[in-house]
Amino acid sequence: MNPPERPRVFVALRLQSDAKARIEAVCDVDYFEGQGLPSKSELIAGVAKADGLLGSAQLPVDSDVLAAASKLRVVSNFGVGFDNVDLDAATKGGVLVCNTPGVLTDAVADLTLGLILALARRLPEAERFARDGDWQRGARMALGTDVRGKTLGIIGLGRIGVAVAERAHAFGMSITFHDIFRQPPIETPPCSYRELDDLLAVADFVSLHVNLRPETRGLIGARELTLMKPTAYLINTSRGQTVDQAALVAALRSGELAGAALDVLEEEPLPPDDPLAALPNVILLPHIGSATVETRQAMRDLAIDNLLAALRGERPEAVVNAEVLS
Ligand code: DGY
Repeated sequence: MNPPERPRVFVALRLQSDAKARIEAVCDVDYFEGQGLPSKSELIAGVAKADGLLGSAQLPVDSDVLAAASKLRVVSNFGVGFDNVDLDAATKGGVLVCNTPGVLTDAVADLTLGLILALARRLPEAERFARDGDWQRGARMALGTDVRGKTLGIIGLGRIGVAVAERAHAFGMSITFHDIFRQPPIETPPCSYRELDDLLAVADFVSLHVNLRPETRGLIGARELTLMKPTAYLINTSRGQTVDQAALVAALRSGELAGAALDVLEEEPLPPDDPLAALPNVILLPHIGSATVETRQAMRDLAIDNLLAALRGERPEAVVNAEVLS
């Protein structure tokens, strides 16, 4: 009897040797060896004979890629987001899409709180004064603001939104939220539902925690920014495309909004001549929401668990389009 064929996997991200060994123990593996993400043609070539794909949540897996991968059974994302995958095409083609929810919740929530505090206490500006030897100017710089007693508006009260609410509650903030579900999850600290426009009008800090979907693309545009207080701050650690970046630049320039902290951008990496980079009232980060040793390791392990379970024909722990299984 012939031994069962080993599945073939294309790995489109860098892995440590122990992670490689786990996959290689049961699969034949092709690795993308280039820098950054594979181009579309490199990805198409990589998945042409693959049963499984392991890649980052920034790797575009569109209908052309899926069409070129006739054997593909699973796309395992290293990330909680899955807007990089054409989900309809994957589902129609019987391809499971998996992600890594849960394991990065605390890391993203911690970063969000860090950004709220950094905006409130003007940390980047203060750090520049100290570093540049401008101590006296630093001592006289505009005062920050307390977060205790301020209102945090959370848009999207899922796992990460709830974890942000817990932290903000511990800092004495009052919390209001907007979500397609009006009821807060049971374990959430006290928080009240508001329609989006009302939330924008009352919040001192607005933080986005939604998936990127057609309904959330451009959710915060010129009209929404006008509704916000001129003293308010916007924090985005979800997906850059949820905010109309040109409108945000205009609002930050005109003083319609006090400031913003963005871990995610419409286009990543940020083009060097992007006007955002020149604005003093913006904190910019290179999409580091999940970037801690512990979290990245947990994401990696879960993404590999998902991949291998799907290739064994079992239900992966985190699957986005479970309908494929039925
Ligand atoms: C995620 O997990 O989706 C993070 O944003 C990294 O892409």
